[in-house]
Amino acid sequence: MDAFIIHGGRRLRGTARINGSKNAALPILIASLLTDEPCVIQNVPNLRDINTTYRLLEELGKTVTVSGKSVTVGFRRKLKTKAPYEIVKQMRASILVAGPLLARFGNVRVSLPGGCAIGLRPIDIHLKGFEAMGAESHTEQGDVVLATEGLAGRTVRFSFPSVGATENVMMAAAATEGVTSIENAAREPEIEDLADFLNKMGATVTGAGGKRIRIEGAARLSGAKHRVIPDRIETGTYLCAVAAAGGDVTLKEAVYEHLEALIAAMRKAGAKITKVPGGIRIVSSGRPKPVSILTKPHPGFPTDVQAPWMAYMALCRGKAKVRETIFENRFMHAAEMLRMGASIVVNGNTATLRGVPDLSGAEIMASDIRAGAGLVVAGLAAQGTTKIQRVYHIDRGYERIESVFRRLGANILRVKE
Ligand code: UD1
Repeated sequence: MDAFIIHGGRRLRGTARINGSKNAALPILIASLLTDEPCVIQNVPNLRDINTTYRLLEELGKTVTVSGKSVTVGFRRKLKTKAPYEIVKQMRASILVAGPLLARFGNVRVSLPGGCAIGLRPIDIHLKGFEAMGAESHTEQGDVVLATEGLAGRTVRFSFPSVGATENVMMAAAATEGVTSIENAAREPEIEDLADFLNKMGATVTGAGGKRIRIEGAARLSGAKHRVIPDRIETGTYLCAVAAAGGDVTLKEAVYEHLEALIAAMRKAGAKITKVPGGIRIVSSGRPKPVSILTKPHPGFPTDVQAPWMAYMALCRGKAKVRETIFENRFMHAAEMLRMGASIVVNGNTATLRGVPDLSGAEIMASDIRAGAGLVVAGLAAQGTTKIQRVYHIDRGYERIESVFRRLGANILRVKE
């Protein structure tokens, strides 16, 4: 297993290019199940979760041809409608195959992903969406089994704007004749990117990015070519790293409008962030002022940047709170940051940080993708040497994060254990 060794306290300087978004690429790759024609997806990051998606598509009957950052998904044989546990347990987003397969073939069987480090993560909202469109579901030997005589366009009202459920129902609706309306839909930029792709395939999706999405499906969708949007979570992580470790960095391809809540909070804390042609520039300004945040569905503060933000706020001049409202158990990084000298008290879904002048290096462990990224940020900002174990979690969502930071001047190495 790989580990990172970081000799912290170095300022970061230069330019980094933001990769394509993992969370946009996953549903778009999976949407290729809606057609037998080839789909060409560009700007796809090279990540563990993306490789898992390729395996899932191949298992279901697709061909996947990767050439650099461009991926062609083609037809090999009639698709299977069962997503096996070996793959689903590695990546919860596998549940997204349910929508396209159910709409096309009238049945699908997906292993239930089970809980994970950050929470229970049920799929009830996805299922209620499919049921509203005319499917029935039950659980059998650890799998969720969905069947329908034929889905129909309906109004689907979500109790919470789940990102995955919005994507799943959008994909099912794209291959269902008639009009489906999703009320209280998730508004994340990745939803808009999926809508763009579905439109290129021949569906008519309007309203994505808002609370109400209208999808007019088509009996037959075609192949399409699409370039995935830049990763706003990778961008947010790098912004926190520069703010915490100090420096002056331009993030090329970063989209300012996708991160307004984070940028507003960072500015309040003192970081200087500007929109520059083709990206975002950040100039640090020493220890941050304390700023309390609350994670929220987009356009609120993104839960996926909460851990990197905490590494930054651990250094604040005063007391700041972080309230996590999306996942029930997303403070695994706090205990590791305590080992680095942070002062954090977690009570339910609220963490209270009393800023310290410096973090100090320690041996710590990543528990999930974003907690791991938060620890990298803490290690870069800390004085002394930090060793982060279980880097494979970080590799699920960041493409060689250590190379990016090394190019910016950090002293970070990947070692084999
Ligand atoms: C996606 C992102 C993830 C991000 C999250 C929230 C991908 C691949 N992952 O995950 O990085 O952290 O959005 O921005 O895009 N919930 C239910 N029932 C459901 C569905 C969700 O209770 O049927 C709950 C979840 O347990 C969680 C919350 O709703 O507490 C948010 O989940 P959701 O928006 O669905 O996130 P994901 O799509 O899983």
